[in-house]
Amino acid sequence: MLGNFTYCNPTKLYFGENSLQNLETELCKYGKNIMLVYGGGSIKENGIYDKVITILNKCGKTVFEDGGVMPNPTVEKLYSGCKIAKENNIDLILAVGGGSVCDYSKAVSVSAYCEEDPWDKYYLKMEDVDNKIIPVGCVLTMVGTGSEMNGGAVITNHDAKLKIGHVFGDNVFPKFSILNPTFTFTLPKYQMVAGFYDIFNHITEQYFSGDDDNTSDYIMEGLMKSLVHSSKIAVKNPNDYEARSNIMWTATWALNTLVAMGKSTDWMVHMIGQAIGAYTDATHGMTLSAVSLPYYRYILPYGLAKFKRFAVNVWNISTDSKSDEEVALEGLCAMEQWMNEIGLVMNISKLGVTEDMISGIADSTLILEGGYKIMTRDEIVEILKKSM
Ligand code: NZQ
Ligand code: ZN
Repeated sequence: MLGNFTYCNPTKLYFGENSLQNLETELCKYGKNIMLVYGGGSIKENGIYDKVITILNKCGKTVFEDGGVMPNPTVEKLYSGCKIAKENNIDLILAVGGGSVCDYSKAVSVSAYCEEDPWDKYYLKMEDVDNKIIPVGCVLTMVGTGSEMNGGAVITNHDAKLKIGHVFGDNVFPKFSILNPTFTFTLPKYQMVAGFYDIFNHITEQYFSGDDDNTSDYIMEGLMKSLVHSSKIAVKNPNDYEARSNIMWTATWALNTLVAMGKSTDWMVHMIGQAIGAYTDATHGMTLSAVSLPYYRYILPYGLAKFKRFAVNVWNISTDSKSDEEVALEGLCAMEQWMNEIGLVMNISKLGVTEDMISGIADSTLILEGGYKIMTRDEIVEILKKSM
């Protein structure tokens, strides 16, 4: 374990089938004005909206609704949310939905009282918050992003063809999150498995970095094994509570900052995936699955020892009379087989990417330096072409 770090995660979690009953206790801690944020209507169809409204009414809150948060929330929506929050002197933003709703709520929480343009300040200049932050609480309905216990807030600007995440500090993490696995049962299969791969990729983005002996890597191997095991059960039976609850818990730990401790972390699959998202508005997890194998096969020689370890410890590949490279490649083949088995999108052309977009997507890809190979723009173009 190398590196110096400070670790703190202030989000209080309530987990399980009865976890919504704790909402009342949490609401008591905040003032009267609640901004209820949700997406395109799934919570009205599956009854979660009614359950939450009943509790808000019981607590005597004044509710200001902000529905219609789209998957991959936009900067225009952010501006409109800031107006609602500021005009109504909101005391707590209650996000009821998936990562988009949680991310958007965090973005509004830091932007409502921001005197500059929040897109410029937080997403282009990557500055820290220096104004009032409205507290956020979450009731999670979709598993994958880890947004329920982190400071991430990803916003898409279609005009600029940019999708950018700002990872805010622990003062922006949700104050509490309610995680009821049964709330995720109504997810369409496409969204469910996209979320599974989002979780897996959050782990690999952090795992494939560094060459020290690191506690985080051992934790991540356990998380990946649990996820692969439970995902196979969940695709056959989406209502399997044990599998869905394990996956929900894995998702939270995959991206609540713990496993990044002491690691440099890669994140290039996400950078490429976000650029694809800016062009196509495709489902986040699928933008990652569609570029992952070309990316990992490309960087494998630069991080061979870790790819071999991944093959052996996560995919149980035997090392008998094989070269390190053969073992490592077999690990990626096993991962590919699993990805196909659970039904992920494996090509960006299936997400609406056309040849003429590739150059622009490469330009929109932020290049980070924590992985085994610092990519060039030309290499990103190659990976995109191989992902078609
Ligand atoms: O909008 P509604 O009607 O609620 O429908 C949503 C949406 O269409 C639906 N859904 C959610 N819960 C449901 C449900 N449908 C039926 N039953 C339920 N229980 O699912 C669709 C997708 O929801 P969304 O919130 O967009 O998905 P996800 O949780 O994957 O969030 C994606 C966003 O999070 C960002 C992504 O970039 C993307 O913008 N990310 C945030 C991260 C973070 N905070 O750290 C990290 C991630 O890497 C990711 O970038
Ligand atoms: Zn992700």
